[in-house]
Amino acid sequence: MTAPAPSTVSINAALAHAAHYPRLRYMGSKYKLAPQLASVFDELGGDTFLDAFSGSGFVGYLAKAMGFQVTSNDYMNYGRVIASAAICSNDPLLTREIIERITGPAADDRDFIQRTFDGVFFTADDRVFLDSAWSHIAQLEGQTKDMALAALILSAARKQPRGVFTISGDLSHYDDGRRDLRTPLREHFVEHAAKYNDTAFGGGLEHRAIKGDTLSLEETEYDIVYMDPPYAPPTDDADYTKRYHFLEGLSDYWAAGEIMQNTKTKKIPKRHSAFANKLTASDALRATFQKFAGARALVVSYSSNSVPGLEWMTTELGKVKSSVEVREVPHTYSFGTHGTAIRRQATEYIFIAKD
Ligand SMILES: C[S@@+](CC[C@H](N)C(=O)[O-])C[C@H]1O[C@@H](n2cnc3c(N)ncnc32)[C@H](O)[C@@H]1O
Repeated sequence: MTAPAPSTVSINAALAHAAHYPRLRYMGSKYKLAPQLASVFDELGGDTFLDAFSGSGFVGYLAKAMGFQVTSNDYMNYGRVIASAAICSNDPLLTREIIERITGPAADDRDFIQRTFDGVFFTADDRVFLDSAWSHIAQLEGQTKDMALAALILSAARKQPRGVFTISGDLSHYDDGRRDLRTPLREHFVEHAAKYNDTAFGGGLEHRAIKGDTLSLEETEYDIVYMDPPYAPPTDDADYTKRYHFLEGLSDYWAAGEIMQNTKTKKIPKRHSAFANKLTASDALRATFQKFAGARALVVSYSSNSVPGLEWMTTELGKVKSSVEVREVPHTYSFGTHGTAIRRQATEYIFIAKD
């Protein structure tokens, strides 16, 4: 793709650009809020942008398409990989030769995925492909490795019914005829490699993708700090590890070797997040607002069915910035599969705090 010129990019051009983003079906992703968020970022202006909880990486990519210099952060490694692939790459690095190598015969005899996830996820052929693809990806470096891994991660996420790794074994009852569920992972990979190549564009700025806990990030002064933390529900946790553990393991070939063998889906241990639980979310959010008080503007996404509420957020943001505006966007969440889907109306808040 050709690079948009920073500061002359219209919102519509940036949104059209971001519409090409290779989408992960991801809990809390902001694809649908792109027009509202782009308007806010455009009104605030500036040069530097932190996406402090990047998830699918989409918002950072939108900011890049608007001409910002982007730093993207998530505490999950797959989040760093997919943001790095889409945001930090200026060129389509996955050449035909690399794609052919990754989809060709294995470079070594590794079989961790075949052994560990037999009867849990994917077909036998798909598991062989994942091990074999990794035997080549392990030999790549830097941006090229992240792009190849991102294509592999997106392939696994698209093939898994509902995109979550809480369900395993015989998942034929989820088969609604969708092509994604039937396409072999090798073919998914070829398609998604092309999609990641398509996301690459330059613009002369250097962007960063970090894996880290937001509470431990450096307090660099950004023009805009965008925070889209897990929405702590009134009960339970907003647990990303439980849903996406396979993608996390796939992002570094389970380097820490920390599979919980007694779990049905062969999970990795839960990554604690102070933002994910109602008992700790308020303190974590307050500390984050204070940490980034030096930014020109803080933009926070939150939902009306989460804890803490609207009044608390407005008060706490008002302690670090003199003006706090709240924009409300009605939003429908669905839970469950087609037949049993429950739809719940909630309001998505966008808090804009500045001096
Ligand atoms: C609501 S999602 C972000 C969605 C993202 N804006 C998008 O459009 O895809 C929240 C993200 O916060 C991450 N997260 C949870 N706790 C974190 C922490 N302590 N530090 C950094 N990231 C964290 C999760 O891994 C998850 O990806």
